[in-house]
Amino acid sequence: MNNNNKQLLVELGEIKKVFFTDDVETHALNKINLKINQGEYLSISGPSGCGKSTLLSLLGLLDTATDGRYHLAGHDVSHLNRDERAKIRNKEIGFVFQAFNLISDLTVAENVELPLTYRDDLSKQQRQSMVRESLEKVDMIHRADHYPSQLSGGQQQRVAVARAIAGKPSIILADEPTGNLDSKNAQIVMALLDQLHQEGATICMVTHDPRSAARAERMIEVFDGKIVADQLAPSTSAIAV
Ligand SMILES: Nc1ncnc2c1ncn2[C@@H]1O[C@H](COP(=O)(O)OP(=O)(O)OP(=O)(O)O)[C@@H](O)[C@H]1O
Ligand SMILES: [Mg+2]
Repeated sequence: MNNNNKQLLVELGEIKKVFFTDDVETHALNKINLKINQGEYLSISGPSGCGKSTLLSLLGLLDTATDGRYHLAGHDVSHLNRDERAKIRNKEIGFVFQAFNLISDLTVAENVELPLTYRDDLSKQQRQSMVRESLEKVDMIHRADHYPSQLSGGQQQRVAVARAIAGKPSIILADEPTGNLDSKNAQIVMALLDQLHQEGATICMVTHDPRSAARAERMIEVFDGKIVADQLAPSTSAIAV
């Protein structure tokens, strides 16, 4: 992907999400309009419960909106069924979660390969070279045959990043990717995201941490299910690291 490519990747129009549980109606997202170009690095911030993870789930096709439009890479993905969503998700979306979410009885290499095995466009050989390439990128190839429990938290998150990028997705969605890490490992993961962004990746990261948010090039703030600010980050060179 090319960094200067300003093609529209994501377009959300008037997105609403209402959760119905027992007799409670939660309006988690209320008329969200958002455009993301290829190669952009966005942060999403806001108080607990404001809808950040819900927004990421919808962007990642893990869940569907109650109302509104979603176009991903030019395709209308608003009305797909579960299987159709899974198919696009496996190819186009890479996820990184706060709790790493690696599978404990699979090795590092098997964890990274797992999402690729759901794709019918890849041979075993292609999958293995993608696994190798992504583990090299996060500097974890030497641990390919280890199990998650044998790794530090920072190493587990680097493996999770490898899993997210292995399939060369259109967009990487990260929900508090440094939330379970000490500051040194958080720095390493943030530097990795910076590097992926430099190489052209489109990244959308939820974070509570203002310093992490400011490392993105565009900062979005959500409050009460609405986008209340959408601004360019100050130049990263101005931020003390
Ligand atoms: N599956 C669900 N069922 C019912 N309500 C939900 C569900 N998921 C989220 N909600 C509600 O939707 C609102 C938004 O939740 P969300 O998880 O998106 O918040 P958040 O901004 O990610 O918060 P945090 O910073 O604490 O992670 C909250 O009021 C939450 O209780
Ligand atoms: Mg959340």
